[in-house]
This record gives sequence, C-alpha cells and structure tokens, in this order.
Amino acid sequence: MKLTLKVWRQKGHNDKGSLVEYQAKDVSPDMSFLEMLDVVNEGLIKKGEDAIAFDSDCREGICGMCSLVINGKPHGPELGTATCQLHMRTFSDGDTIVVEPFRARAFPPVKDLAVDRSSFDRIMQAGGYVSVNTGNAPEANANLISHHTAEKAMDAAACIGCGACVAACPNASAMLFVAAKVSQYALLPQGQPERAKRAMAMREAMDDEGFGNCSNEYACEAACPKDIKVENIARLNREHLRAMICSDE
Ligand code: SF4
Ligand code: FES
Repeated sequence: MKLTLKVWRQKGHNDKGSLVEYQAKDVSPDMSFLEMLDVVNEGLIKKGEDAIAFDSDCREGICGMCSLVINGKPHGPELGTATCQLHMRTFSDGDTIVVEPFRARAFPPVKDLAVDRSSFDRIMQAGGYVSVNTGNAPEANANLISHHTAEKAMDAAACIGCGACVAACPNASAMLFVAAKVSQYALLPQGQPERAKRAMAMREAMDDEGFGNCSNEYACEAACPKDIKVENIARLNREHLRAMICSDE
C-alpha cells in the first residue's frame, strides 16, 4: 500500500504546530498503525530528520498509552479498537490519512502527537484505589457477588485510561473515565468503605484539572476502545449525589 499522511508536527507546548505531509510507501496491510509510523520514522531518521513523536507501550490494547486522532476519530475508524490494534488493512491503497494528537485543555501538548495525560494520574491519586489492608486472598465464596454485578464491575474495570473519551467529547469531559473508575469499586463490597469519599474526591479532581462536564453527546462511548458504556456516567452522578447527601466517612 502507498499512503499520504498528514501528520501534526509541533516542537513543544509553545509552538503553534501544523500538519506536515509524508508519503508512506511499501506499507503492509498487516502492519498496525503504530508499526506503519515506525517505518515512516525509520525513513525520517535515515534522512537526518526529526522522527514523529507519539506515545505507545504495550501495543496490545492494554496500557492506554497510544493516543492518536486518525481522520478525526480518536483511535481511528474501527469501533472498540485502540490505535495500536488498528491494522492498515482498514485503509485502502492511495488513501490520505490525517493524524493528530488528542486535543483537550487538560492534556497539554508535549511534542507532535504526544500529549501529557498526567491529569488522569492525579484523578486516580485522588481516590481511584482501595486503601484498606485486605491481608491474604480470602476464600473465594466469602464475599458473595452476583454474576450480573461482577460482570458490570469488570466491564467498568476494562477502562485503560487512554483519554479517547476526552478527545471525542465536545466539552473535553473526563466523565466516562471517572465513571468507569468509580463504578468498578462502587459495585463491589471491597469498594464500600471509601465509596462516598472516592466519588467526591475523583469528581473534584476532575473539575480541578479543567475537564468539562457531560452534556449527553455519547461521543465518549463511541470512541472508547474498551466499549465502556455511558450508563456508568449515570452511576457516577448517583454516587456523587449519594455522597453529598449521606457521607459515610
Ligand atoms: S473510558 Fe474508554 S476512552 Fe475513556 S479512558 Fe477509559 S478506555 Fe479510554
Ligand atoms: S500501546 Fe498500550 S493500549 Fe495501545
């Protein structure tokens, strides 16, 4: 395959940035999108030019590091697929592909396609954990949890913290991310002791970081590579209201 890439290049936070055109030749349909960028970068390095900066780590859809807006869509055109698992066979020979970073005030640019998503880390530090010492693993049937509830909690826990929901949202809201993190604990017995404190602290941290609020666009759910559902946002709102009315800590 031969492709034309229009890639966002930006030297740093204070640089204006612009789209720069590159030709990608001999692209295998079996390459992932990131492998295709690796090949383009090898060509740039050979010519003594600056390689395109972009984030990745696991390249298996697990870590949430990859973060490209491809043809206007966070993680590209395939539903439920992270950029690292998007294959070039999704595109056609001769296509022009526009590649941009996740854009949001709370994700300041670092370089080219890489943005700083440490705002998510600070939201997690505010309450996205269980701080009680649970000791050794308990007997499996000691805490009875219905299959339906366990499935809902595990579905929420599938969030990889990539930030595509923020990039897709016209308000740059992080509600789907926070909702997933609050839900995975709120649904399970282990999450009950800090339930109210967690919902309050994570929502407050989200607002402090400059993320917008939810206006029911559903763009987050469509962009999410892990199919996190907006019903979690409704749960987050209920958890927050519950925490304001009856704080349990
Ligand atoms: S909710 Fe989905 S899109 Fe948002 S951070 Fe989690 S995995 Fe990424
Ligand atoms: S590189 Fe880890 S999810 Fe894409």
